Amino acid sequence: MRVQNFFVPIQLKTCGCILLVLAVFVLITDILEFHNKVNNTKIIHPPTISDVTPPAGVWYNFCKLKPLSPKEAFEEDLLLQSIAWPDTPPLQSLSLRKSSDPAHSTFTILDRMGGGQWQIGDKMEVIIKMYDFQGCPKNCGGDVIVARLHNPTLGAGVAGKVVDHLNGSYSAVFSLLWEGSAQVEVILVHPSEAVTVLGRLTREQPDRVFFESQFRSGIVSETTTCNVCLRPSRQPMCNYTDLHTGQQWFCYKPKKLSCDARISHSKGGFTQNITVMENKLFQRESFVILDSGPSGYYYQGVWRALGGTTVWQFNTSSAITQCLRGKVIKMYGDSTIRQWFEYFNGALSGLKEFNLHSPKQIGPFIALDYPNNIFLTYRCHGPPIRFKNVPISELHYIANELDNVIGGSNTVVVLGIWSHFSTFPIEVYIRRLQSIRRAVVRLLSRAPETLVVIRTANPKALNLYETLTNSDWYSLQRDKVLRAMFKGLDVHLVDAWEMVVAYNLPHSLHPQPPIIENMINVLLSYICPHKGG
Ligand SMILES: *[C@@H]1O[C@H](CO)[C@@H](O)[C@H](O)[C@H]1NC(C)=O
Ligand SMILES: *[C@@H]1O[C@H](CO)[C@@H](O)[C@H](O)[C@H]1NC(C)=O
Ligand SMILES: *[C@@H]1O[C@H](CO)[C@@H](O)[C@H](O)[C@H]1NC(C)=O
Ligand SMILES: *[C@@H]1O[C@H](CO)[C@@H](O)[C@H](O)[C@H]1NC(C)=O
Repeated sequence: MRVQNFFVPIQLKTCGCILLVLAVFVLITDILEFHNKVNNTKIIHPPTISDVTPPAGVWYNFCKLKPLSPKEAFEEDLLLQSIAWPDTPPLQSLSLRKSSDPAHSTFTILDRMGGGQWQIGDKMEVIIKMYDFQGCPKNCGGDVIVARLHNPTLGAGVAGKVVDHLNGSYSAVFSLLWEGSAQVEVILVHPSEAVTVLGRLTREQPDRVFFESQFRSGIVSETTTCNVCLRPSRQPMCNYTDLHTGQQWFCYKPKKLSCDARISHSKGGFTQNITVMENKLFQRESFVILDSGPSGYYYQGVWRALGGTTVWQFNTSSAITQCLRGKVIKMYGDSTIRQWFEYFNGALSGLKEFNLHSPKQIGPFIALDYPNNIFLTYRCHGPPIRFKNVPISELHYIANELDNVIGGSNTVVVLGIWSHFSTFPIEVYIRRLQSIRRAVVRLLSRAPETLVVIRTANPKALNLYETLTNSDWYSLQRDKVLRAMFKGLDVHLVDAWEMVVAYNLPHSLHPQPPIIENMINVLLSYICPHKGG
């Protein structure tokens, strides 16, 4: 990995105080290093594919999703347009030497509009100009770039907005929100060439993460492959499509047992099918590109929301208990929501987890504080959950769960569902969210005082395996879809994306404790908006 640092001091003046902005251009890449080893990857090929080979780029040939209503289909079109990525170099002409190279790339901080000294509240723009490994300017867009402005000493940070000018140059725009010095950090997550490969993977191998179910009857046991869609095969299939939500799921039928004999669900493995050259295009940092914002920033390590919400600090067990007294908090989603359950369990001295003998990764979990009448639950979302050995009886779709919630002013519903959908066409995620949103709308119409909080996606550390199955480029698109789909509903977001980008810690799928603490404070501030008076 090579890291480039440049320092450009700028004098800033606000309210008579001299501020210094230090701009640091950090483009990180290990593009020249050849990853020939993939950790944690169990490479298992799914059952042999039949004579039917889908033409390149057409996954629909083996995956037919249920048609949407005209209204939902229209929404899907708009969503697809809104996340359309700029054209990237075609597969046939991918060249390492012509891919974006941080070492050759440059940046410039534009002068303040209207001249004069930088002020709090100003927007500062940085122009990034990309070059390739031969030192030639890039003339198309599509690189995946993340930017933040931060000051580690002050514990301050804010995510930048990156704009692609589609001609090899990009702008990163930052809100200046604190007095003092700051550094600009720009990270190239993927060159545009790598995006071409990520797109190919989803088109051609939406089933590259695959699943298994175990079937059992008496002493006979069989395991078969399962997925949202299965490639055509001479093997018959079992159809586990959920009748209520319409979410589809299939397994190959076991040879000896019936479809009813299914007892558990697991992540099966991952098929990796990329060329050596494609392999070299991936590297491991994380990124963000924001639609608007920022939604907040850190100061002295504490998240401050912009746009109306005051984030209070619930920094003692008794402050949290007081806020949650009399509440039922129902959490649904992936492991990033389970982290919140675990946080409450650790932080609240009066809260006791009731032992349901649930597997540690899967749940469900229940925790109770009797004297304060606090009831906290966690349940993982349904397939394609990538957990191991989930009993079939615990495979629940969030929408169905929500339909069983009475709701009301004492009920808080917390949702977080994103990372297990990365390898599938985005349409699969859109359909899942449409079903959850319908359930949220039903819940809010029968019990309008229910508080619904949604945790967004976040960038993470990326090794090669993580990139192919969970690249931030995939998460970014899902994050945009999630925000768009719940916009205008009476739900609150915890902006995990910005909260991870802006904090001075390495990106991680499971953000580190100081970030979780800040997220919990945002959640509690939605639950108890008047804590401060
Ligand atoms: C790229 O596009 C931006 C925005 O339109 C423009 O300001 C800039 O001059 C262009 N750069 C080149 C090299 O054409
Ligand atoms: C699976 O079952 C659902 C629900 O009954 C049905 O709508 C769908 O057509 C079935 N799919 C296949 C491929 O049989
Ligand atoms: C692997 O990728 C190549 C190139 O896209 C494709 O021709 C081949 O069918 C893929 N193999 C599998 C098992 O998906
Ligand atoms: C808790 O937060 C308050 C601000 O709400 C602060 O004054 C206090 O010092 C904090 N206490 C601890 C132990 O961090």
